[in-house]
Amino acid sequence: MRDAYIVSAVRTPGCKKGKGAFAKTRPETLLAHILNAAAERVKGFDKKIVDDIMIGCATPEAEQGLNIARIALLMAGYPDSVSGATVNRFCSSGLESIALSSLRIMSGWSEVTMAGGIESMSCVPMGGNFPRPHPEWAKVSPEVYVSMGITAENVAKRYKISRELQDEFSYHSHMKAAEAQKNKLFTEIVATPADKFEGKGKETFLQDFDDGVRSDTTVEGLGKLKPAFAATGSVTAGNSSQTTDGAAACIIMSGDALKKYDVKPLVKVKYYTTVGCKADEMGVGPALAIPKVLKMAGLMVEDIGLFEINEAFASQAVYSAQQIGIGDKKFWAYDSKEKKININGGAIALGHPLGCTGSKLAATLIANMKRLGVKYGVESMCIGGGMGAAAIFELCE
Ligand SMILES: CC(C)(COP(=O)(O)OP(=O)(O)OC[C@H]1O[C@@H](n2cnc3c(N)ncnc32)[C@H](O)[C@@H]1OP(=O)(O)O)[C@@H](O)C(=O)NCCC(=O)NCCS
Repeated sequence: MRDAYIVSAVRTPGCKKGKGAFAKTRPETLLAHILNAAAERVKGFDKKIVDDIMIGCATPEAEQGLNIARIALLMAGYPDSVSGATVNRFCSSGLESIALSSLRIMSGWSEVTMAGGIESMSCVPMGGNFPRPHPEWAKVSPEVYVSMGITAENVAKRYKISRELQDEFSYHSHMKAAEAQKNKLFTEIVATPADKFEGKGKETFLQDFDDGVRSDTTVEGLGKLKPAFAATGSVTAGNSSQTTDGAAACIIMSGDALKKYDVKPLVKVKYYTTVGCKADEMGVGPALAIPKVLKMAGLMVEDIGLFEINEAFASQAVYSAQQIGIGDKKFWAYDSKEKKININGGAIALGHPLGCTGSKLAATLIANMKRLGVKYGVESMCIGGGMGAAAIFELCE
């Protein structure tokens, strides 16, 4: 098989559902903007060389329905000849799109593809506008439809992840994110037009930072929050991922295309895998997917310099890190020199725009790998319905 190279990976800021900067911005507009931004980062990039664009979306309906990939690519000025598909594997949709688009390159079916993700949780709520579980199957297997928050409670209870540990992990997520913002480390973010409607009709402003980061977070403050999903539970608004709007995109090329268009690659897409697990503890997904992908690559946990493990909830992120042998605080504390998990903060601070997250985390991971000269980076997440996904990227010299 040939190699697939990512040559550009960018994202919009992540902004809070309903009250954040993108609450009134259409998802097609966000996605069109980021598809253009990915192209603008490659000198002399001609949009007509793109074969196909795959876009992850976890709730592809209403404003982000039909086939948003195709609609947004046309809005972004890609020519009619560029095809587009929307991909759904819930929270790994944006990584699934990278894997599928890379496979097109690896197999020789395409020379230049794009991948990405979009989710406007302001426009389409988690689970969709009108969820309709199968009436008989819902009685046999209700866990397939259970709230994600309850699955996080199950992980916390079954694997004894204390409220204190969840809150501590969440505090560090905010501290890492605040520090990264202060030091301008989010180089993968592209300033993005956002719409607002006040008095005179539509006005547009530029948003260039993730608006969910709370630099004033304290462990004591987090400890006072009430459980969000179960009266006697430990999962709160402070130790859950934020519901968020955002988009991300990347460009993938074959080795031949790199030469032909004289483009420098950022990383190789080495391996990608998915696993299934019990639906009512879907948060354990990374604990299964990461060892599986490492085995495929013949690599050890110690070989991996950076991890982006999606913080759907602190309980499952901590448990997953523990299971793969990097649960110790030194691997995720903001003030630790040995930190390698979510070094710029995770979804608890930065938000989790479901179908966008896989591409968003890839953009962040690649920017950090490049900045720090890290050879191997792993991205992983849990997935609703009971799954996990993981990918390995290798830095190009
Ligand atoms: C948990 C959840 C319901 C909370 O939603 P919300 O009430 O809109 O959350 P908010 O971020 O507005 O936080 C609510 C309140 O908690 C408190 N809070 C949140 N984070 C805090 C922090 N770091 N420190 C102190 N207080 C905090 C604040 O009082 C906040 O209210 P404010 O913004 O008015 O100050 C929502 O974030 C959620 O569903 N998350 C999980 C999403 C999910 O399941 N994704 C899929 C995973 S597979």
